[in-house]
Amino acid sequence: MRKRIIAGNWKMNKSVTEAAELARAVVEGMKTATETEVVLCPPFTDLTAVAAVIQGTPVGLGAQNLHWEEKGAYTGEVSAAMLLSAGCTHVIIGHSERRQYFGETDESVNRKVKTALKAGLIPIVCVGETLAERQADETAAVVERQVRAALEGLTDAQVAGLVIAYEPVWAIGTGVVATTEQAQEVHAFIRALVGKLCSESVAAALRIQYGGSMKPDNAGQLLAQKDIDGGLIGGASLDARSFLDIVYA
Ligand code: 13P
Repeated sequence: MRKRIIAGNWKMNKSVTEAAELARAVVEGMKTATETEVVLCPPFTDLTAVAAVIQGTPVGLGAQNLHWEEKGAYTGEVSAAMLLSAGCTHVIIGHSERRQYFGETDESVNRKVKTALKAGLIPIVCVGETLAERQADETAAVVERQVRAALEGLTDAQVAGLVIAYEPVWAIGTGVVATTEQAQEVHAFIRALVGKLCSESVAAALRIQYGGSMKPDNAGQLLAQKDIDGGLIGGASLDARSFLDIVYA
């Protein structure tokens, strides 16, 4: 059985004080035991404040990006070791916003995934097609290219331990959620692909999150799909109540 994983991607939101408050509200709202793994991904500047709040709780901490180099003259970048020292357990890699606005490529995603794994961070690797690609019937080809590239050179054990987030770009921040059928279809496709690239047992262990306008009112249906193992939540993770409603969906 795969353990469900719900992660909040706060993107470029929340001051240090606001982040600590939101994390506190999430922790306090999680008094009921849950089998679900919960991860908060605030901006870099909020990591240590959120780490202090979630210390001693089952809530995990993720960053939204990292650099592949260990250290050096890379102004504005943050290394895996820095993330670990800030208390991170997870790191989002290759989010479509980074691919779209910050020049992230399949190749840089692969380098970052390798760096994260080497450091002991769990990568949450994002893939997903744009609206134009879906309309041109290229969803499978795009997702296959992204998954193949991201996992290039990894061992089976490394693949089994990471998380893939399927985030159709047209569903991110738009309020247009993929239908359960659309989402399940791509999740099953990714799992079958990993089965071919690695093995059936790796595919069976791999957790695949859905992301893109997941909200309390659609989370239950999406999470009930056979190959949907969790969610990567943007907008709805900025409010403790709606995030917790998804965690307990
Ligand atoms: P929204 O939930 O705001 O659509 O964002 C999804 C996302 O990009 C999570 O990484």
